[in-house]
Amino acid sequence: MSSSIVNLLSLALVASIANGLPQILDSSLSKRHTAVEAPLAKSNYYISFGPRPFYIINNMTASPLKTKLQSCENGPFEISTFVFGHRGGGTLQFPEETVESTMAGARMGAGVLECDVSFTGDRGLVCRHSLCDLHTTTNILLKPELAKKCTIPFTPANGTAPANALCCTSDITTAEYTSLCGKQDGFNASAKTPADYQYGTPTWRTELYDTCGTVMTLDSYITLVDSLPGYRNFTPELKTPPAQVPMPFKGYTQEQYARDMLNAFINRGIDPSRVWAQSFNPPDIYQWLKEFPAFGKQAVFLDESGDTPSTYNVSVSALAGIKAKGVNIISPPFNYLLTLTPDNKTIIPSPYALEAKRVGLDIVSWSFDRSGPLAKVLATGEYYYSSIAPALSYDGQMYNVLDVLINQVGVKGMFSDWASTVVYFANCFGLKGPVSSNYK
Ligand SMILES: *[C@@H]1O[C@H](CO)[C@@H](O)[C@H](O)[C@H]1NC(C)=O
Ligand SMILES: *[C@@H]1O[C@H](CO)[C@@H](O)[C@H](O)[C@H]1NC(C)=O
Ligand SMILES: *[C@@H]1O[C@H](CO)[C@@H](O)[C@H](O)[C@H]1NC(C)=O
Ligand SMILES: *[C@@H]1O[C@H](CO)[C@@H](O)[C@H](O)[C@H]1NC(C)=O
Ligand SMILES: *[C@@H]1O[C@H](CO)[C@@H](O)[C@H](O)[C@H]1NC(C)=O
Repeated sequence: MSSSIVNLLSLALVASIANGLPQILDSSLSKRHTAVEAPLAKSNYYISFGPRPFYIINNMTASPLKTKLQSCENGPFEISTFVFGHRGGGTLQFPEETVESTMAGARMGAGVLECDVSFTGDRGLVCRHSLCDLHTTTNILLKPELAKKCTIPFTPANGTAPANALCCTSDITTAEYTSLCGKQDGFNASAKTPADYQYGTPTWRTELYDTCGTVMTLDSYITLVDSLPGYRNFTPELKTPPAQVPMPFKGYTQEQYARDMLNAFINRGIDPSRVWAQSFNPPDIYQWLKEFPAFGKQAVFLDESGDTPSTYNVSVSALAGIKAKGVNIISPPFNYLLTLTPDNKTIIPSPYALEAKRVGLDIVSWSFDRSGPLAKVLATGEYYYSSIAPALSYDGQMYNVLDVLINQVGVKGMFSDWASTVVYFANCFGLKGPVSSNYK
């Protein structure tokens, strides 16, 4: 057992003895509904990192960065609004978009927690990353009465075609949705039966917690996040329905869907300063700027328009126009923000990162710890590391990557699939995350 893990354990022990209880709620909870910017510095909520940050630090080569990160190992640590818990924030190990992933992200200190907002057949809003991923992220195919409602019901693999299915939140009611179990995203293309179809988790994730994740509606997510000890913010993402769910859907327009998502927060009395609404669909962002300016000024403009060398340049040249339309926060995947020096040895800010800074856009990027071991990212062409993979071969470099993103590119916030990896770093560098009052 490494010394840092021993220290963490003894820290936990000291914290729980001092508090008398393993988990304490403090009097500041009554401030939950006010527009406080930052988490409470000395919340008694114990943040638990687990071994991963220390594993990464131990695997770094000697450098001032390693020394700095080692110097922080005994805290103090606080909830960090720099960290946006991706699909909950415990998604490296827990089924995405569930109570369990959200609780894991919260416990690891993520100050902002995500719900991807999809709509159901009776126009309820629920947390699901894609309108049409229920066949791979829930047990719907194991429930015959719901499976038969799927846009494409299960068809088994045969000699020529893989197993197939397509199940959308819009295929079922909200009540039916809440009867599902969240599961690890994956499927078995060779499956002959719905039961066989359930498998397919990448080896570097785990099925340890794949035990019927609790699915959430947007409303139950708001209740959960608002009830957490300490101070937490929200990041709901409005989805763009796939071609199988053409909009308007039975009269339901994208514009109304965009309104309904923000009205859910307004109806619950959540201050807009706590809500970092995201969308990949530019009209949603421009609509919010016009109709809901308090949300729109800090809306997160998700950008995945530059995945190929030629479209990348178009994305870079579009940034000035996006800023000119009143957008304040741009949010690309982090491969867009990084590149290598010509010798492939040093990670540096990319043309996209430099242009975003030049035009005055703040950056929130995604998603850390979604990729498995760095030793494999070059061979597998892993998306998030695709622009820097020739320089990567061991996990200690994760913090070198984060260091360039934070201390050279200057990202204002970072999504993570395993919150503690970034919360540790954010605490060590005193990062506070984006501040609502900075946006006009
Ligand atoms: C990091 O881990 C790899 C194995 O994953 C090992 O080969 C390498 O020596 C380690 N580097 C350091 C600096 O500990
Ligand atoms: C295999 O399945 C596909 C798609 O379900 C179907 O179109 C095809 O006819 C099947 N082939 C055989 C040999 O059954
Ligand atoms: C995938 O499905 C095939 C066919 O039903 C089955 O033989 C195989 O065991 C399944 N794989 C897993 C990992 O369940
Ligand atoms: C993208 O822009 C850079 C810098 O202007 C240029 O060097 C590169 O050739 C361009 N790439 C493509 C595919 O157009
Ligand atoms: C850098 O990596 C790229 C992509 O793998 C490769 O095409 C190029 O030859 C490498 N350059 C050097 C100097 O190794």
